[in-house]
Amino acid sequence: MSAPRQIRLNVFRHNPQDPASTPHLQTYLVEEAPGMTLFLALSELRERQDPSLAFDFVCRAGICGSCGMVVNGRPRLACRTLTQELPAEITLLPLPAFALIADLSVDSGSWMRAMTERLQAWLHAADPAPDLSRLEARMDPDLADQIYELDRCIECGCCVAACGTVQMRHDFVGAVGLNKIARFGLDPRDTRSDAEFYDLVGGDEGVFGCMTLLACHDVCPKELPLQTQIAFLRRRMLRAGA
Ligand code: SF4
Ligand code: F3S
Ligand code: FES
Repeated sequence: MSAPRQIRLNVFRHNPQDPASTPHLQTYLVEEAPGMTLFLALSELRERQDPSLAFDFVCRAGICGSCGMVVNGRPRLACRTLTQELPAEITLLPLPAFALIADLSVDSGSWMRAMTERLQAWLHAADPAPDLSRLEARMDPDLADQIYELDRCIECGCCVAACGTVQMRHDFVGAVGLNKIARFGLDPRDTRSDAEFYDLVGGDEGVFGCMTLLACHDVCPKELPLQTQIAFLRRRMLRAGA
């Protein structure tokens, strides 16, 4: 049996709250174990070498969306990335586009909340006392599957971090926002009209700001069909704005 691999982790370190802190990369060596994820490597590093290292996780199962980071140039979930899939030298940076808390920890929650409120990304039933029989009516199973597929977004922020448009337009809602509007646009229980959706995403901060760079589609850890949804939403908004 060959000796375990030594991994060199170059980790971004910076605490913006500390005036004495300057952004830099710190290098650590970790011995690779079978089935080791980046999350496990970072946890071991924090436990045995450097308790000051900041990074986020909750579920360790690709569900909570909190462990996104840039791994050798690509946004990924640390808990779903096996070190054996990567070269022995790994550089870890915090996701760009979100406020830095410290080291690899970013405040994606505030960004997601602001975007969700701006897009009113929740089910709207126009009637304040809705007809419950309509809300509870059996949905076509294929349509329910399509909605469920888009609901699998975990708001990890990888699509936002990978998107060039986000770097240029700070009001751009990102693929995560466009996916949400596509999802509610599909839902027959949502009574908003296309014109109302157009008001939310029919501008440059929405679907017409997207330059179809498609990095969002490539990096989404849940493999959501973002390319298809953005194209679909763009056609729908073109009709609504005509
Ligand atoms: Fe993450 Fe994909 Fe949702 Fe973007 S669309 S926030 S990459 S799960
Ligand atoms: Fe950005 Fe995806 Fe559009 S990467 S530019 S949201 S196709
Ligand atoms: Fe929850 Fe990685 S820790 S998605």
